[in-house]
Amino acid sequence: MRNILVLKSSILADNSQTNQLSDYLVRKLGDNNIVVRDLAKNALPHFDATAATAVRGQPSTEAENALLALSDELVAEIQKADIVVINAPMYNFNIPTQLKSYFDFIARPRVTFQYTENGPEGLLKGKKAIVLAAFGGFHQNQSTDHVTAYIKTILGFVGITDVQFVYSEGIGLGADSIAKAQAHAKAEIDKIATAL
Ligand SMILES: Cc1cc2nc3c(=O)[nH]c(=O)nc-3n(C[C@H](O)[C@H](O)[C@H](O)COP(=O)(O)O)c2cc1C
Repeated sequence: MRNILVLKSSILADNSQTNQLSDYLVRKLGDNNIVVRDLAKNALPHFDATAATAVRGQPSTEAENALLALSDELVAEIQKADIVVINAPMYNFNIPTQLKSYFDFIARPRVTFQYTENGPEGLLKGKKAIVLAAFGGFHQNQSTDHVTAYIKTILGFVGITDVQFVYSEGIGLGADSIAKAQAHAKAEIDKIATAL
């Protein structure tokens, strides 16, 4: 039994490409311990000064301690996961703000990363990440794709370097284009699920 953490972040609910694809992946993987965290339905707070004091300073107020407890819960969840499935819709050329807040709450000095003489070291080791990215247009391998670059950087920073991306592109171009993108993504997911 593997522990699988699914991070949903689409604001489009049942119309979401990435939500449909992560549900498909979970079905393909069969019997596992699955935790689904829908960051759009149950949004985390924006990472403000109170949050920074909570997770990177000396929390003392009730609000700061509550945010530290929230961060602890998120960190424990990802620490436990063997596989992290990250839904990554492109909104205005980057990830949804809800997913960015998640990364802000789990990037914790001395907990998920630390600085050493040799530079930063990620502490979430031995995990695999599968990123389901969906774009209205076509951005793969273009300078407009800030989704891939950012996710690779932040996951690498916290120690997750085994990362596979599955792309659904051209979602904004009508039904045929959506069907083609879904078929392509599902074929990629089938390969990943078989190899896991
Ligand atoms: C608010 C918003 C902003 C978007 N911005 C972009 C964009 O910058 N580039 C792009 O190619 N598609 C953009 N799209 C299209 C989405 O990437 C596309 O609908 C994709 O399917 C989103 O994933 P989801 O269906 O899981 O939410 C945007 C969609 C929304 C709703």
